Amino acid sequence: MKDLQTIKGAVHQDLKHDSAIKQVQGRADYTDDIAEPIGTLHAYLGVSTVTHANIRGMDLSRVRAAPGVVAVLTAEDVPGVNDVSPTGKHDEPVFPTEKVEFHGQPMFAVIAETRDAARRAAELADVDYDVLPHALDPIAAEDAGMPLVTDPLKLERGDVEAGFAAAANRISGRMVVGGQDHMYLEGHIAFAIPGEDDDVVVHCSTQHPSEAQHMVAHVLGVPSNAVVVNVRRMGGGFGGKESQMNLFCAVAAIGAKKLNRPVKIRPDRDQDMTATGKRHDFVIDYDLGFDHDGRIQAVESQFAARCGYSSDLSGPVTDRALFHADNAYFYPNVRLKSRPQKTNTVSNTAFRGFGGPQGVVAAERMIEEVAYALGKDPLEVRKANFYGDAEDGRNVTPYHQTVEDNVIGRVVEELEQSADYQARRKAIIEENAKGGIIRRGLALTPVKFGISFTATWYNQAGALIHVYNDGSIHLNHGGTEMGQGLNTKVAQVVAEAFQVDFDRIKITKTTTEKVPNTSATAASSGSDLNGMAALDAAEQIKARLVKFAAESRGVSEEAVSFVPNHLRIGDEVVPFDSFIKEAYMARVQLSSAGFYKTPKIHWDRAAGKGRPFYYYAYGASCSEVSVDTLTGEYRVERTDILHDVGRSLNPILDIGQVEGAFIQGMGWLTTEELWWDEAGRLRTHAPSTYKIPLASDRPRIFNVELADWSENREMTIKRSKAVGEPPFMLGISVFEALSMAVASVADYRQCPRLDAPATPECVLMAVERLKAGA
Ligand code: MTE
Ligand code: HPA
Ligand code: MOS
Repeated sequence: MKDLQTIKGAVHQDLKHDSAIKQVQGRADYTDDIAEPIGTLHAYLGVSTVTHANIRGMDLSRVRAAPGVVAVLTAEDVPGVNDVSPTGKHDEPVFPTEKVEFHGQPMFAVIAETRDAARRAAELADVDYDVLPHALDPIAAEDAGMPLVTDPLKLERGDVEAGFAAAANRISGRMVVGGQDHMYLEGHIAFAIPGEDDDVVVHCSTQHPSEAQHMVAHVLGVPSNAVVVNVRRMGGGFGGKESQMNLFCAVAAIGAKKLNRPVKIRPDRDQDMTATGKRHDFVIDYDLGFDHDGRIQAVESQFAARCGYSSDLSGPVTDRALFHADNAYFYPNVRLKSRPQKTNTVSNTAFRGFGGPQGVVAAERMIEEVAYALGKDPLEVRKANFYGDAEDGRNVTPYHQTVEDNVIGRVVEELEQSADYQARRKAIIEENAKGGIIRRGLALTPVKFGISFTATWYNQAGALIHVYNDGSIHLNHGGTEMGQGLNTKVAQVVAEAFQVDFDRIKITKTTTEKVPNTSATAASSGSDLNGMAALDAAEQIKARLVKFAAESRGVSEEAVSFVPNHLRIGDEVVPFDSFIKEAYMARVQLSSAGFYKTPKIHWDRAAGKGRPFYYYAYGASCSEVSVDTLTGEYRVERTDILHDVGRSLNPILDIGQVEGAFIQGMGWLTTEELWWDEAGRLRTHAPSTYKIPLASDRPRIFNVELADWSENREMTIKRSKAVGEPPFMLGISVFEALSMAVASVADYRQCPRLDAPATPECVLMAVERLKAGA
């Protein structure tokens, strides 16, 4: 009875992503692979060719007359509300009527027999613009008196003025941190199929099917129960599909209902990059007081973000920047302010870390300032400022949450040893002192990341499990699969609960028909929330099975247990399949809906106080780079990572997440540069000019370990921790290693104050600047 011993694919085991092989072989279905019914039409967006203007008139006659064109949609064709803003601020029209507010803003949609015809026709609009002045970045926009897109946040604790007065040293500075394009492999796409009456089904690539559903309903002027949104999987989302799909879903659905034919919309890469939002870039002004030992005493900073023309998710993104402006450090006296600045650019949105990385990179810059000012190793300054515990009282965040699960000291210490940090730093300093052209840098940076949606009500999830009478299991939950392995992990939880092999469980598409009112799969909370909801559903079915087993055999319920692929009932061992058939014949309900909401969290935004996060995830990375000081070119020689995922649900998937996040974070801070010209056009709108890291850019030596001793002290799913976003910030070690290499040209006496991204040009300019100053 081999299959009695263990099940295949239980939790805490390495198990490959359930669609890995299908994806490699091209057999995994994406939205564009769905067979198109006869009569399917194709939509394409017509966009603004100026950055800010009143629309005097729009002549679309040439568009309508173009070959293959079936219809042109404008604001007049929106039957319900002309708005797809996720905030309720009504600041994001499907199609604008009076003004355009960024270059490339969608203005109308062409629907044609082929995508090519629609795309060509979209170029033919004659728009009469009354051009207005524009401001592209948060500083220019503030100077021009432009409003904020949403209310700013202030976090304050301690006595900042007294803290500064008592501090022996004080430094202020400004850091400019660039944005980032999501560069998912699969771009945006929506495919709407009209049904009878009000009905419409939309297949699309979104992290937030429920919002897409509600948005389509709202735009069509129908109740949400008329709209179904389906997502089998995404070819990457990274936050770029948390809200940005709304527009595409709306356009496809409006077209499909108007023409009563299926309509698909799929922008090309250039349009995807120009018409959809990105990571927010920030201008961060900091003022910091510290003592001679490098202990920070007071911090005051402002985080101004380029939010673009509408609010979208900029409120919670800029909030999260403040929540992470401490990273892993205790600030005794602190005041932090956000400035969610409106600009004449595409509306920026969620991107892995959701503002957190911008806060963390500023915290790390402040550490560097202290270290270079005092002539210390930045790692020493980090350690001096880490959060402490209840005993030393250094465990309260700027938002008044107590840090109860601090493991950063242990994580950093272990990595310092395993990466041989001290000896390597010494050797590098000696080598750099010889004055060669190639300089090396080494940095070890920590991360602490808060887990939970800061919008407390988002922290809920549902799941639906059916056990069919042949013993096969159908699993549905509210989360979406974007490559992160969520479906695999949730199925492992269910396999473990029923003690059946993983392959008995069918992982199905996410659909608003099965689990309603779901949250975005975001904030790294997918497996925390949906894993728990699925477990709840499984436990309900199991309880019914146990009751029936006990009754049918005349034993106590305690005598019934789930053993690998069987039930043990008293002395009897019954195969799962045959027991399920028995239960069905006895009319036991074999289907259940599960639900979960995160306990303990609360947040009062007006007061700036609460416990927004259920727990924290921690990690650290150590990177070594070499820089050519004549050209600014560099490469990452080695990276060591130790990351905390609690008790990993699936170590191999988690390591994949850590590796991918690190590389993506490194790309953000090194080569990925968004560049707008003065006219307001994004000129880096394709992989030809926008440089994500290549396989050849990965660290030459790359050691990634999970902290296998860690266990979540909170009752999360199987004591695991979220993994999706936190390791993104591990990329900061590369940025700081570059900084050290640059600093070597001036004998480490000056903080290089690199802005991000530190492209080779920027590194070269910093080298020249420091040489000139030295
Ligand atoms: N991993 C892959 N392969 N593709 C993605 O799009 N998105 C990231 C992260 N890891 C992403 C990914 C982001 S932004 C988040 S919030 C989480 O996955 C979401 O999934 P989870 O909550 O299930 O971890
Ligand atoms: N993280 C990611 N997405 C979100 C959040 C968050 O905190 N809040 C709303 N959407
Ligand atoms: Mo991730 S930015 O929360 O989708």
